[in-house]
Amino acid sequence: MTALLIICFCLILGSLGNPQFPEQEKDPKFWNAWAQRTLKNALTLQELNKNKAKNLILFLGDGMGIPTVTAARILKGQLNGQSGEETQLEMDKFPFVSLSKTYNTNAQVPDSAGTATAYLCGVKANEGTLGVSAAAVRSQCNTTQGNEVTSILKWAKDAGKSVGIVTTTRVNHATPSAAYAHCVDRDWYSDNEMPVEALQAGCKDIARQLFENIPNIDVIMGGGRKYMFPKNMSDVEYPNILKHSGTRKDGRNLVQEWVDRMKDKKNHYVWNKTQLLSLNPNNVDYLLGLFEPGDMMYDLERNTESDPSLTEMVDVAIKILKKNPSGFYLLVEGEFEASVMVQLHICSSGPSFFSGRNVLSLIQVTALVSADCRFPQPYKQHICTMAEPSPLNEQWAVRSVP
Ligand SMILES: *[C@@H]1O[C@H](CO)[C@@H](O)[C@H](O)[C@H]1NC(C)=O
Ligand SMILES: *[C@@H]1O[C@H](CO)[C@@H](O)[C@H](O)[C@H]1NC(C)=O
Ligand SMILES: *[C@@H]1O[C@H](CO)[C@@H](O)[C@H](O)[C@H]1NC(C)=O
Repeated sequence: MTALLIICFCLILGSLGNPQFPEQEKDPKFWNAWAQRTLKNALTLQELNKNKAKNLILFLGDGMGIPTVTAARILKGQLNGQSGEETQLEMDKFPFVSLSKTYNTNAQVPDSAGTATAYLCGVKANEGTLGVSAAAVRSQCNTTQGNEVTSILKWAKDAGKSVGIVTTTRVNHATPSAAYAHCVDRDWYSDNEMPVEALQAGCKDIARQLFENIPNIDVIMGGGRKYMFPKNMSDVEYPNILKHSGTRKDGRNLVQEWVDRMKDKKNHYVWNKTQLLSLNPNNVDYLLGLFEPGDMMYDLERNTESDPSLTEMVDVAIKILKKNPSGFYLLVEGEFEASVMVQLHICSSGPSFFSGRNVLSLIQVTALVSADCRFPQPYKQHICTMAEPSPLNEQWAVRSVP
């Protein structure tokens, strides 16, 4: 009996400790080779459009697993007075659908940081880490160096394309961060959230990396204003609310630095909807829009006077990015309220589900995709929508214009 208890105890301890995974999973080449093999096999199955895309837009619905998509489809139909299931979302009309696995190397139910590293950088990674391989350990600054992996946003920039990030979360939140940062901890939003030892060891906060890693990201829009401003500097929109004040202990004003650095270019910093919509995209080459101190509001709670919708942000972003004759890459994230688990609860709790904010946001995203299908030719583009992080699988719908 005692032996049995000890065994159980060891098993529990083992499962609480750091999960082990094969050494080869720390090597980016392992994932790249696997992806290439999978792709090669897929290409032998049927004649696919093998033209090279000039532009790529990735719409990422955080929490948008297959059950959520199904729920959104039904809701969209019911809002139109139909029974729902027969409805088509815009992405249902895409010619290709595929599934991809974006799990974390050390966790079955993954988080946005590791999954974003998987689909943006092509390398699976540990939970909570951004733009680093699985050789990096969460929160251990000294495991960063040498383990950095780069993202499709950087590859696009290096190829001479314009690049953009639009999100309804803060711009230094896990998903967008994996596009530009190399950070062992997704919570290191500014130096205020970092341990002193990590700062002393030379690790940089994510907000700083947004401006320092990939020079001149053409379009950046979302929330996260407070992480850019000196500690205690009052917020422009909520001057009397202390928790919205600047957080930076290094006293830097990253927005002012950006404005100064870009002053010979056609650059604009905006913090509200009026400013955004009054811009003429033809006269803007670089845009920084920070519309809330933290994450932006869910669409149903949004102040429609002061904050732009995701659709409005994407519309402006595309107009700016498409001016580049070499093409562009745009990452768009719509944050749903919570994960699939919460949504399944909402589903099973009956009619209240139909007020689900997640699902309405999803409809907004699909409306976006539809809006984008009308995007003027001759721009060749691939539009992908995908879900993350959903424990079971990720769905991709791909529409490519030949
Ligand atoms: C890295 O830092 C951790 C503490 O965060 C320490 O335990 C470990 O020994 C360090 N490793 C190296 C190789 O310096
Ligand atoms: C910010 O304000 C807090 C609370 O008033 C104060 O304790 C802290 O010293 C201030 N920090 C700086 C850098 O001004
Ligand atoms: C938007 O910003 C401009 C410029 O700072 C300001 O004049 C205007 O009052 C702001 N509008 C709203 C709705 O906050």
